[in-house]
Amino acid sequence: MRIVITIGGSILLKEYDNKKFEAYADVIRELYNEHEIFIVVGGGRPARDYISVVRDMGETESICDEIGIQVTRINARLLQLALKDIAFPAIPVNFQQALEYSATNKIVVMGGTEPAHSTDAVGSILAEFVGADLVINATSVDGLYDKDPNKYDDAVMFDEVTADNLMEIVSGNETKAGTYEFIDKTAIEIIKRSGIKTVILNGNNPENVKKAINEPIGTLITTD
Ligand code: UTP
Repeated sequence: MRIVITIGGSILLKEYDNKKFEAYADVIRELYNEHEIFIVVGGGRPARDYISVVRDMGETESICDEIGIQVTRINARLLQLALKDIAFPAIPVNFQQALEYSATNKIVVMGGTEPAHSTDAVGSILAEFVGADLVINATSVDGLYDKDPNKYDDAVMFDEVTADNLMEIVSGNETKAGTYEFIDKTAIEIIKRSGIKTVILNGNNPENVKKAINEPIGTLITTD
């Protein structure tokens, strides 16, 4: 299977040490034997911190996004280092480059591309561009809930949600640099048009990514 895995920066950098990078590298190494893997890494807290510094300088949202993108590329580089020789040793800055690098049969690891969306969208566009069978979005939540599970004990997680319903749910969210919440709208649009199976799951345990290939876990975004 050709699989795109997007990993939130907040997952990899939760503790600011090498452990999550190495743990992800171990899981991805296992998947690499059977699957063709592309990885997109998010910015996490350092992206938000830098963005807020630049925003205070009075810079535009696009410049803030550009700074966020640079941070995602640093995080991508760290995961690439943890993967050692099974990862292609450069970070693609666009989708064409990602496709070219993948012709080496190495794992391609990238961060952001252009302003005005998050790495969720990068994952969905990359999946469409390379003809992926599955997108696994590793985030810091278990999936999509009917209400905030941190506030409500009776919150229920959806096993499945249609892309249309998801769009309605996130339509009130902000689209400013560093503030994309559950999933960004561009990503949902791409999921709708490509029809590529997309699973959102809790990435704090990297084993969940492996599970998503063979069994239901998290929330599946459906398009029909
Ligand atoms: P993330 O994809 O990590 O954003 O990119 P996020 O969802 O806010 O953060 P997580 O999920 O907590 O890790 C960080 C920031 O970089 C910019 C955006 O400003 C985004 O918020 N970015 C990233 C882009 O503008 N374009 C991209 O392609 C990627």
